[in-house]
Amino acid sequence: MRYGYFDDAAREYVITRPDTPLPWINYLGQEDYFAMLSNTGGGYSFYRDARLRRLIRYRYNNVPADSGGRALYVRMSDGDFWSPAWQPVRKSLDAYECRVGLGYTRITSTYRSIQCEATFFVPLGQPLEVWRVKLTNQSLSPVELQLFSLVEFCLWDAWDDQTNFQRNFNTGEVEVDEAAGVIYHKTEYRERRNHFAYFACSAPLAGFDTQREAFLGAYRGFDRPAAVEECRCRNSIAHGWSPIGAHQVNVALEPGQSREVIFVLGYAENPRDEKFMVDPHPQPLPLSEGGEAAPFSLAGRRAGDEGQPRLNTSRVQPIIARYTDPAALDAAQADLRQHWDKLLNVYHVATPDEHTNRMVNIWNPYQVMATFNLSRSASLYESGIGRGMGFRDSNQDLLGCVHLLPDRARERLLDLAATQLPNGGAYHQYQPLTKRGNDAVGSGFNDDPLWLVLAVAAYLKETGDGSILDELVPYDLKAAGNLKAAGNLKAAGDNKIGSETPLYEHLQRAIRYTLDRLGPHGLPQIGHADWNDCLNLNCFSSEPGESFQTHSDEGDSTKAESVFIGGLFVLAAREMAGIARHFPHTDEADVYECHANAMAQTVLKHGWDGEWFLRAYDRVGARVGSRECEEGRIFIEPQGMCVMAGIGLESGEAQHALDSVHEQLATPHGIVLHQPPYTRYYLNLGEISSYPPGYKENGGIFCHTNPWVMIAEARLGHGDRALDYYLRINPSVREAMSDVHRCEPYVYAQMIAGRDAPTHGEAKNSWLTGTAAWNLVAVTQWIIGIRPTFAGLQIAPVIPANWPGFTAKRVFRGVTYHITIKRAGDAVSLVVDGHAVQGDVVPLPTDGRKQVAVQVTLS
Ligand code: GLC
Ligand code: GLC
Repeated sequence: MRYGYFDDAAREYVITRPDTPLPWINYLGQEDYFAMLSNTGGGYSFYRDARLRRLIRYRYNNVPADSGGRALYVRMSDGDFWSPAWQPVRKSLDAYECRVGLGYTRITSTYRSIQCEATFFVPLGQPLEVWRVKLTNQSLSPVELQLFSLVEFCLWDAWDDQTNFQRNFNTGEVEVDEAAGVIYHKTEYRERRNHFAYFACSAPLAGFDTQREAFLGAYRGFDRPAAVEECRCRNSIAHGWSPIGAHQVNVALEPGQSREVIFVLGYAENPRDEKFMVDPHPQPLPLSEGGEAAPFSLAGRRAGDEGQPRLNTSRVQPIIARYTDPAALDAAQADLRQHWDKLLNVYHVATPDEHTNRMVNIWNPYQVMATFNLSRSASLYESGIGRGMGFRDSNQDLLGCVHLLPDRARERLLDLAATQLPNGGAYHQYQPLTKRGNDAVGSGFNDDPLWLVLAVAAYLKETGDGSILDELVPYDLKAAGNLKAAGNLKAAGDNKIGSETPLYEHLQRAIRYTLDRLGPHGLPQIGHADWNDCLNLNCFSSEPGESFQTHSDEGDSTKAESVFIGGLFVLAAREMAGIARHFPHTDEADVYECHANAMAQTVLKHGWDGEWFLRAYDRVGARVGSRECEEGRIFIEPQGMCVMAGIGLESGEAQHALDSVHEQLATPHGIVLHQPPYTRYYLNLGEISSYPPGYKENGGIFCHTNPWVMIAEARLGHGDRALDYYLRINPSVREAMSDVHRCEPYVYAQMIAGRDAPTHGEAKNSWLTGTAAWNLVAVTQWIIGIRPTFAGLQIAPVIPANWPGFTAKRVFRGVTYHITIKRAGDAVSLVVDGHAVQGDVVPLPTDGRKQVAVQVTLS
């Protein structure tokens, strides 16, 4: 069953009832300021770093789910009240619609003939979110309504905020400029913070609150605030406890009349020496009501700062003025639309399949941008306080979006490379705010550096910008041993000084990292883990609660080997050969080609199990992912990766491996990670066997891996199978069974419960997953088959038999290619602007043409 529908023309998913199986969210913001917003108004916002600069408090594990964060309340003249986003009040609405759009969400609802349309968005380039709330009286008589807004402020560090109550119940501070309708959240501003938040309202206030208990009343939840029920905000000033921002606005409407009220929640920083301003008219502290001991005081203009230096708000005042002005907001919304028009114009297809079109043209690029921005940091499954930017994750995310934002991709690549260690390895994660490696997780995930080679190759193919290879990029010398080696370090913070080399050398060292770490069979050592974080062959953890991620390897970790990294190495070394050939820094292209071929041979010799590729050798040389195994006999990762890398294409192993995947791993909901799943805990395998069968890495449909098999099938020319796999996990296809799938139907989830799970088909961990980038790569570059190469745009579709053809548009290196494909057979022949071209690569125009027509016949 469905909970809404796709409106492709508007590029929206329209949710038609608020009680979706799980909160279905959208991300607002593209650069520095991000807001997560659900279809019932929940979620939180942050500036750059979801842990350290969190604006709104949000309670994971809350019941009911997704309450708190932001709220709107409308109070009717008779005292009845409701929430336009349904939560937190949850009154049964007469109409409800939530339009999830690109960078905005619009929730429209009606209750007792009052319509409320609330549009939420983050203007491009601004560190703030806007709520445009329009109330319309659809009844036949005049009404006097009260509109209340609410955000609960987080005291900045989201981890500290939910653990350090003995301090935090005392630190909360606010200021209120009642006349201007602005509530300032300035906790810790007096001391080390130069930043504050503001919550502004465009309308004259009938009241406000900044202390949560004052607004809600004791022992009440967000669903029944006393201030709303009694129609009387307390004008409270928070001193410690839990600062909130709540505005109360009177809205009188004649029949048919509408009125818009705008709220702006923003983040601001002041220069250190301009943090405060002097109050020319200090006001005495007002007495509290009836002299009772309330944890808040009543106050008038600019309350909360009596006797204290006042927050310098001069920089934000013009911003607030601008973004509470409807005309400026109309323009900002138009800009946002244009921004997405431009991005989505880069690659557009019209195939016979609506699910493919919808995902390729709208939702998949949209999700890929979210993964590029946020890596795995903040979603409803990633708390925002754990992982920063993942090295392997961000490199893979980039594969899916380098064509959309080449400049930002370039910067990201340099940041990533700067967390490499001198030995070529990499910090597994880094913090976006500091761009420093995360020591708790450290390094030693032996696949990590190879993804950088893939990502740089993708950037070079897309842009042709070889100058990136000459950029001087430092290494992180902080990791044990390296600090000493760099004896010239002055301060502990200078852990990179003097280590810069051209990016090209970073890539050389990345390749070298694998070659320096080969195991007994000549296959790459797995280290702490490869792509599969949960296959921990050197961990041997027996203590409950220990993190498999941070647990250090026990004993000799040079023995366990990964066939998957073997395949990845072949792919990366071939890319490296391509880079060396096209951007000649050295004459070592052949050397990399040789390394690739040698590793391919080793994989075929020691990594082939008879009917599929082996997964690994463990510490004592026992096979993992082999027909010899009782459980975990066949794994998806090496099949996809080795065939993608071209191993066994001619000699038949590739075909065999993919047939085995088809027979043993494919389910109607996608391809599972391995079979059979582990039914008990294996000390020598680690976290993978800690999950119940069918979930996550223990035989779940770990969607990230599925596109590898699609690409592998395409490499063998199997268009039917490739598209079939593609459609099995395509969110738009799965939309029809939203009650089973449960996550958002417009984006991929990391995992769908596997065939051995009692809840087979149920998705979890939507949004922030490498699935997004890889599926976009698989479908656009390998099935539809339009892919950038060093020499030009290659057009090599591998489409299903029942597609008679399709058209596509691709902007590549500033030229727009209008591509028409007609199918008779499989072999490609190209006609470019009326002239036949040999091969399947469209040469770059040499005469400055910006529009190129390409006719492709598959015959
Ligand atoms: C998660 C991690 C990713 C890893 C995958 C498989 O998605 O973010 O780095 O490769 O799990 O374990
Ligand atoms: C767990 C998850 C895995 C993820 C890892 C990193 O191991 O199962 O998917 O990559 O945590 O946090």
